[in-house]
Amino acid sequence: MKEITLRSAEWFGREGKDGFIYRAWMKNQGIPDETFNNRPVIGICNTWSELTPCNAHFRELAESVKRGILQAGGFPVEFPVMSLGETLIKPTAMLYRNLASMDVEESIRANPLDGVVLLCGCDKTTPSLVMGACSVDIPAIVVSGGPMLTGNYKGQHIGTSDVWRYHDELRGNRMEEKELREIESAMCRSRGSCAVMGTASTMACMVESLGLSLPGNAAIPAADARRKVLAERSGLRIVEMVKENLTLSSILTKEAFENAIMVNAAIGGSTNFVIHLLAIAGRMGIPLELSELDPLSANIPLLVNLQPSGNFFMEDFYYAGGLPVVMKALEKHLHPHCITANGKTVKENNNDAIGYNEEVIAKIDSPFNLSSGLAVLKGNLCENGAVIKPSAASAHLLQHTGAAVVFENIEDYKARIDSDDLEVDESSILVLKNVGPKGYPGMPEVGNMGLPKKLLDKGIKDMVRISDGRMSGTGFGTVVLHVSPEAALGGNFAVIRTGDIITLDLSNRALSVALTEEELAERKSTFEPAPALTERGYVSLYINHVQQAHLGADLDFLRGNSGSKLSRDSH
Ligand code: FES
Repeated sequence: MKEITLRSAEWFGREGKDGFIYRAWMKNQGIPDETFNNRPVIGICNTWSELTPCNAHFRELAESVKRGILQAGGFPVEFPVMSLGETLIKPTAMLYRNLASMDVEESIRANPLDGVVLLCGCDKTTPSLVMGACSVDIPAIVVSGGPMLTGNYKGQHIGTSDVWRYHDELRGNRMEEKELREIESAMCRSRGSCAVMGTASTMACMVESLGLSLPGNAAIPAADARRKVLAERSGLRIVEMVKENLTLSSILTKEAFENAIMVNAAIGGSTNFVIHLLAIAGRMGIPLELSELDPLSANIPLLVNLQPSGNFFMEDFYYAGGLPVVMKALEKHLHPHCITANGKTVKENNNDAIGYNEEVIAKIDSPFNLSSGLAVLKGNLCENGAVIKPSAASAHLLQHTGAAVVFENIEDYKARIDSDDLEVDESSILVLKNVGPKGYPGMPEVGNMGLPKKLLDKGIKDMVRISDGRMSGTGFGTVVLHVSPEAALGGNFAVIRTGDIITLDLSNRALSVALTEEELAERKSTFEPAPALTERGYVSLYINHVQQAHLGADLDFLRGNSGSKLSRDSH
């Protein structure tokens, strides 16, 4: 073994009282000296929680990781961090992403860890762990929990994206609540995260394309024994990474971020990708602007036919060869020499990938769609930008002008959307304000707001919708999101009124309202911000420090990296 100075030796290698205290209390767990002393100490950062059902199998996964670490001569120590279950946490898991990342950062830095395995699954559990680890910058590898098996209801394959359709069926009186209950258990029928290319799967693809996991990590179903094999191999590998001092900053170069952006385009990944990637880049000090995403995606065709943009499910994606097949297909676009967690380059990892189903993963010369990815819009309605996912939108609405129907906040929307008196038709543009980072607070996934009942009854399936909020990665529709500056800050978006004429012009990447600068300025001069919802605790800290969506919605004081050194060292 090459001689390395272990960070953990600062604790366990000491003599006298300090060393006694550090070692003695480890021994109360029945661990002998030789097991942890002078060996790479590897933290297993576990987001297991029964309140995060997508991650509820992570204790088992951690056991596989531990086996790998022990085999490689390391010493595994599992520790919990705040877990963010997308479905249960109110008002929105995004409110706590930055808090969880602080927990991860401080837990890693404060403890005798030489490397860390990040067990990530449900949406926010991936960016929060990666962001926190980035701010410490010791060797780290991600093990994702894997997607659920495909749901099956009356012989039909179903997944989370169908929830939005069922909801509309229910509101249109075409389905009864009783049937919806039956579908619940048919859809979530195994361990794991959402079975579609929603945010959790997008995040798993993001870490693989950034080089933060072993190849193939993104798609192996949670219930497949090969998920545990990957976990064990990741445990083996992290010990090697410590010996090689392969830190996150050695992997997360600007080129790695560009690779992730191109891969996200090819897979039709979630709009949430933008916000999390920008936040991770911010932690690494990598200059990355929202405006860079669009040109990087522009020449990338859509290669993956998964819900919500397509037809298939993550399980199908795995059987078709998974992300390595996509990355191989993109080889002429990607930076091939980026180093990844296994010590190999992107090219070396994916060179031999074979696709097994062209209905699921297309060849580069016969893609499912020539354009893909996320479009970044600019205009007088979103001075700092907004995003839309064209592959999940209706083609006929991507060039559209209509009159705004404005909801001032989510309560206003809920109160009026199904009213017979709402003046709206299918050419209208629904505008939802005050669901941004500061405004909600926490930027909830309400941007793909349901359509007015009276239009659903007419069979209308899509309309242009605009908000300063986010959309679930499993959602779809002609939905403009992440408008920045958000309404709570009093920019142009804050003063839009019902009846204003809005134009979405995707081909020119423009989102504008037919108002002059003077008209906008006059309206803004009387803008009054909504009163703050709370004045204490984390939420107060969040409101005062959260940045806008185009910067990744991180807290301003969390950007950057403090390294792994401790400011004080005493006992
Ligand atoms: Fe956890 Fe979808 S709710 S991944």
